[in-house]
Amino acid sequence: MTETTVYSFTDGFQLGNGQFSRERRELPTPQAHDLLVQVAATAVNPVDTKLRQTLLGPHAHILGYDGAGVILAKGPQVDDFQVGDQVYYAGTTQRQGSYATAQLIDSRLVAAKPTNLTMTAAAAMPLTTLTAWELLFERMGFPAVKNANAGRRLLIINGAGGVGSIMSQLAHWSGFTVAATASPKHFPWLQQHQVDLPLDYHHDLPTQLTDAGWPQVDAVAILTEPTAYFSLAAAVIAPLGHVGSIVEATNDLPLRLLKAKSASWHWEYMFTKTDYQMELATQGQILARAAHLFTTGELRSNVTTVLAGLSNDNLLTAHRLLETGHTQGKIVLQVI
Ligand SMILES: NC(=O)c1ccc[n+]([C@@H]2O[C@H](COP(=O)([O-])OP(=O)(O)OC[C@H]3O[C@@H](n4cnc5c(N)ncnc54)[C@H](OP(=O)(O)O)[C@@H]3O)[C@@H](O)[C@H]2O)c1
Repeated sequence: MTETTVYSFTDGFQLGNGQFSRERRELPTPQAHDLLVQVAATAVNPVDTKLRQTLLGPHAHILGYDGAGVILAKGPQVDDFQVGDQVYYAGTTQRQGSYATAQLIDSRLVAAKPTNLTMTAAAAMPLTTLTAWELLFERMGFPAVKNANAGRRLLIINGAGGVGSIMSQLAHWSGFTVAATASPKHFPWLQQHQVDLPLDYHHDLPTQLTDAGWPQVDAVAILTEPTAYFSLAAAVIAPLGHVGSIVEATNDLPLRLLKAKSASWHWEYMFTKTDYQMELATQGQILARAAHLFTTGELRSNVTTVLAGLSNDNLLTAHRLLETGHTQGKIVLQVI
């Protein structure tokens, strides 16, 4: 293999109407900690569609973060992977992405692919797993140990999307009892993903929680724009509890509402570490721990849709589906 087929934007597309164009580039040479990975599958995330909608004008950035594939070559400072290893990873904003047949990736962000998952099932998981793990176990500080949070309750706002569907599983593994919101059509999916109490976000959530005997929770994870849910979170959070979000607020949040309970607010952005070159190896370590949990059956892949082939049509189909804002689990493109 001497070249890679990659996908980048054409110039000057209209907002929400972006197009991908196909280019052929020489394969890059891995330096230092790099791996050159032949991409077998890539997944789409809302960050991809947000960038496609907002990156106007000429540029040659290749989108895509999640990936699973096979190592083709490695840099001189890579000791823990070999050519031919199967890996999965979520990448970084700092490099060209995974809408490609091959890409460079920092080995510290990478882990061995879960042995029991296909490439498509594995590619669905890294970005959302890192986000859910970092919010729950790093930002909020709950122990990432099996059953260590027994007796604690977590409320997830947006339980059926990509992040919610892995957060519920990680929370359950660590001992939480989990409530999560979605439309009723997603309730079976929630229950398959270890949600104990599905809640319909179209109806009054405090009433549903009270009726279920959940007067308060130890943590609230708001996996959608948080403004509309902040007062609810402040009302149901237990004293000394933790509230967090992964989505930028469109308004100032009334943090004063948490003060009487000494409750904490947390932001999680899974690209913070790579944007600021901090604690890079922790992302590979989290993915390695998650891979073990996939292999033992404690976690399952959230892939719901697989599109065969990396093509303009499939990329746009995947983006359009995700942009409905009402998908369940993850959409993946099979590259090879
Ligand atoms: N900070 C980070 O590092 C980070 C990482 C990953 C994702 N994110 C962001 O987090 C958000 C969620 O990501 P995702 O991958 O889970 O998205 P996703 O898979 O697209 O989420 C889809 C789900 O959102 C639910 N939903 C839509 N409107 C809602 C509302 N008003 N209230 C509650 N739920 C609603 C839908 O449920 P219904 O079908 O029932 O409406 C659907 O199941 C996105 O904004 C994404 O950009 C941030």
